This record gives sequence, structure tokens and C-alpha cells, in this order.
Amino acid sequence: MSINITKAKSAFIAEFDHAPDTVVRAPGRVNIIGEHTDYNHGFVLPMAIENDTVILARKRQDKTLNACAANLDRRVQANLEDRKRNSDEPWIDYLLGVADELLKLGKPLCGADLFILGDVPVGCGLSSSAALEMAAVRMFESFGGFSLDGAEAARLGQRVENLFLGLSTGIMDQFISRCGKAGHGLFLDCRSYHYELIPIAFPDALFVIANTCCARGLTKSKYNERVAECTEACTILKTQLRTAATHLRDFSLEDLEKCQSMIPDVPYRRARHVISENARTLNACEAMRNGDVAQLGQLMNASGDSLRTDYEVTSMELDAMTEAARALPGCFGARMTGAGFGGCTINLIARDQAQTFGETLMTQYTQRTGIKGELIYSNPADGAQILE
Ligand code: GLA
Repeated sequence: MSINITKAKSAFIAEFDHAPDTVVRAPGRVNIIGEHTDYNHGFVLPMAIENDTVILARKRQDKTLNACAANLDRRVQANLEDRKRNSDEPWIDYLLGVADELLKLGKPLCGADLFILGDVPVGCGLSSSAALEMAAVRMFESFGGFSLDGAEAARLGQRVENLFLGLSTGIMDQFISRCGKAGHGLFLDCRSYHYELIPIAFPDALFVIANTCCARGLTKSKYNERVAECTEACTILKTQLRTAATHLRDFSLEDLEKCQSMIPDVPYRRARHVISENARTLNACEAMRNGDVAQLGQLMNASGDSLRTDYEVTSMELDAMTEAARALPGCFGARMTGAGFGGCTINLIARDQAQTFGETLMTQYTQRTGIKGELIYSNPADGAQILE
């Protein structure tokens, strides 16, 4: 975490004239592999990163959230008893959405003075929104004297996205932001919520995140469109194969091939990505457990290619960043990460070449696109915590 809590506390006092009662944090994440599989009940393998969202808070006697978003230098008041979205200050919606879902669970909530800050880049595919949601859950837990189980907290965050914000996302981002562990990747079965922490301890390699610094366009509508295309493919497969299966997770590539003539080209390719990505994710876990960096890198490359050609969620900038990375010495694998349509790539790089790799990649990316990119080096971090 790069946030200085002592400084943040002084800023809280300057803002509200008294000290905070509690400090919580939750991390962003990078997905190693398993992309666009979560809402298909499939497998994912993300890790939490050292970039965090931090909330400092003090209880109020009323039902008001009196909030300051320090990074944006914006302030707003919201009423916990009248939870409406705020198009002028959309960042407060994440807290109101969390409150809304906690109230549905019958949890006790109180108002608070809030000071929110962080260093998870926003809109770059590193889940700044999940970090804010999971930090908010921690804050309400701390004040309400209750504690949710990890999967329950993550599912609550997913409902905030699905019901309060209208985005049909899966569970990956909230799950890793809540349940991540330092030094580990987290393999998650998005149907059963069974998960396994897998050590990331390659002596000779590390992950490097590269930000295209390109705003994602139309993410919400395109994301929901992909979800709908998967449902379409799944519905045809179910009818054709007469099974009670419910999600793409339940089908094999052979099933898909058998039904090819019945499925339009676009949903067919979306399904091919999802089904093959699930297999790659299981193989990637095996490669990580065995410390097989070369194999993991190949799987990442295959995942990236499938996201570009079958799932069509890359962009000119993501393609330029990925292509440049793969041609550099020391690169085992490179792919876009997160929802796509902009944002970041994740690269598996030989440790002793990482420095040169990063510098050269940034130069070449700018030459190709005219845009200045950004590198993020992070060890796998812990999930959401109450710090004080
Ligand atoms: C976004 C969503 C996740 C997941 C990824 C793609 O980050 O929030 O649920 O679907 O996209 O893998």
C-alpha cells in the first residue's frame, strides 16, 4: 500500500474537525487468466494488487453519509434512508449500493463522516470499483459489529453491480478484493465459490502490469452484450443437447462443435472463448503449482489471442501493447486483463529482464500509438482489512 495513513488521518481531521474511528482498505486486482468466464459459472485466477482504496470513517448519530473523495476533491452528502443514484457524484453510488444490500440482509447501519482515497487507477481494468465496494463493506462491518463470510461479502458486492448499477458482472473482482492473500493467486470456481490460494513464487519471473492509459469506451453496453451473447449460445446448446445444464461452464468444445450449424457465428465464437478459457485456467493453475513459467506464459498468450479474435474485447492500444511485449526478450506471455475494451495488460517476465522490458515496452508503445503508457509493479497483496 502506498497510501500514507498518518497523512490521511491529518487530512480527515482538517476536513471534519475530529479524528476517524476506523480505517479500512481493500485492494484492486489483476486477473492472471480466466477472462469473461465468471458470469458463465467458470474458473478465474486473479491476484490482489498493492494498489488500494482506503476509507477513514467516523460514526455519526444520524443516517447521513458525509463523504469526501480526496482523489477527485469532491464532496457529497447522502441519506442512508433514501438510497438513490447520484449522476453528479457517481462514486457515492458504490457506498449507497453496499448500504442497500446490507439493509436487505437486515444489518444495522449508521451514518458516517467518510474520507476516501486510493491509488487503484480508475477505469483501467484493475477493479477500482470492487475495491471501493469491499472497503465500504469493511467499514459498515466495523461500525455495525458484524462480519460477513468472504463469499457472502463478494456476492453482496456483485449484487451492487448487478442490481444497483445495472452491470451484469460476475463475482471475480469482489471475491479477490475480499479474499486475496499476499504472495498468492486465487483460483476460484465461480459456481461453488470453492477457492484455492496458489503461491506465486517464481524465483525467475514476475508479473508486470502495463496500462494503455486509454479510457475504456462503452464498457457497460458492450459488457452486457457479451453476457447476452453467452446466454444465447447456452440456450441453443441446452435445447439441442436436451440437457438441464444452465451455463456455458457445463459444455465441452465437442458439444459446441456438434451444434455449430445451429448457433450463429458471433455467439458461437463467444462460447468457444469461454469453454476454452475454462480449460486454460485449470491448466494455468497446474502450471503455477509446478512453477512452470513457460507453460503459464503460453496459456496467457492463448487466452489473449482468444479474447482478441473470438471474444473481441481488445482494442487497438491493447493489441499494440500485447504485440510489442511478446516480441521483447524475457517475455513468457502477455495478454489483456479485466473486462477489456481498454485498460491494462498483464505480462509474465523474466525477473532479471523486467527493468529493460518495462522501459522498452513503454517506448515502443508510444511509438506505435502516440500515447504514454504506465507500468505497475505489484506483488500479490492481501484482501480487504480493517486496519484500525
Ligand atoms: C470485469 C467484471 C468481472 C469479469 C471481468 C472479465 O472485471 O467485473 O466480473 O467478468 O470483467 O473477466
